[in-house]
Amino acid sequence: MRIDVVSIFPSYFDGLTLSLLGKAQSAGILDLRVRDLRDWTFDRHRTVDDTPYGGGAGMVMKPEPWGLALDELAAGSPRPTIIFPSPAGEPFTQAAARDLATRKHLVFGCGRYEGIDERVFEYAQTLGEVRLVSLGDYVLNGGEVAAMAMIEAIGRLIPGVVGNPESLVEESHEDGLLEYPSYTKPALWRERSVPDILLSGNHGAIATWRREQQIERTRARRPDLLHGD
Ligand code: ADE
Repeated sequence: MRIDVVSIFPSYFDGLTLSLLGKAQSAGILDLRVRDLRDWTFDRHRTVDDTPYGGGAGMVMKPEPWGLALDELAAGSPRPTIIFPSPAGEPFTQAAARDLATRKHLVFGCGRYEGIDERVFEYAQTLGEVRLVSLGDYVLNGGEVAAMAMIEAIGRLIPGVVGNPESLVEESHEDGLLEYPSYTKPALWRERSVPDILLSGNHGAIATWRREQQIERTRARRPDLLHGD
């Protein structure tokens, strides 16, 4: 999979060279390219923002650098999926990550300030499928942290990135429930013991207990997941 990122703070993404996604890049499974939006500016100050038409607080990202960036990154690619992280977008979920992990080419456009000139989203639709995607109902300073979270969630679903694919199945959200609690040695730690059932060797009973724990935790912490809200 190819992933292009456009940001005015490309070094945010240095962390993605670590760990599993770093290995995936070395192995040629993931081709991640991070670009500075200012490379598509031509004035002395490399300006990417301006005051909003109609007035109001803050600055808006100018359309011209975005247009050139998207033209260059989409060139020769049959309709990439272009994702703009935005608190005004559709929620990012495990299902969205699974869907996006099947794409050949993703482009992340990270906005800052009060956002990007709206015409950029319209124009981007001429080049590919455009998605505005929110990490959650809170506001970050820009799209970078959201894009990193999404790239990690998507990247680990690309076949070959996570060594043992079984570990992907037994996780929170993969079956619509939160994951069950995990324990390791020692069996007794600071007067707290591991549940007896896990030491029983009875795999059927362990599976049943884990399922009950998943349902119980989901009911307590995320009842919305059980009710399909
Ligand atoms: N940019 C700012 N806040 C965001 C959020 N919650 N999700 C995605 N992108 C954002």
